[in-house]
Amino acid sequence: MEFLYSFLVVGHVIGLAAIIGPFLLQMRRNDGFAITAVLGGAITQLVTGILLTGLAEGLDRDLDYAKIITKLVIAIVVFVAALLGWRKARSGSNDRSIKPFFHAAGGLALVNVVLAVFW
Ligand code: HEM
Repeated sequence: MEFLYSFLVVGHVIGLAAIIGPFLLQMRRNDGFAITAVLGGAITQLVTGILLTGLAEGLDRDLDYAKIITKLVIAIVVFVAALLGWRKARSGSNDRSIKPFFHAAGGLALVNVVLAVFW
């Protein structure tokens, strides 16, 4: 169980990097957004986060559920923004219309990192 928990934390950090890495690298651009990586990261955060929460319960770790619910709500918004941006990219929309979704996903993921660490 402990190994699985640590394994999921590694996945959680990789998912975080897949959202925030492209965001920091491309936030000043107007085209070529790596929105597929951001979407993959958003899905990874939801899946690993929910599994971590379940396992923490089994391992008798104390979690702050107000913090977890807040992170979950923000992560859902990150996912929806990434999904809408990804669908626009797939339908061939111009890159400028993807930018707000890319920024929303990246910016809110950063908010979640701050919450995870400081709360
Ligand atoms: C964009 C989405 C997310 C980001 C950027 C994020 C970020 C982080 C970070 C940086 C940590 C390490 C904190 C530390 O060890 O001090 C962490 C841990 C954790 N996250 Fe997330 N997270 C996200 C979504 C979620 C979701 C949706 C859930 C659950 C529903 C969740 C549950 C957890 C749990 C259980 C831990 C380990 C326990 C803890 O220290 O709070 N996370 N997350």
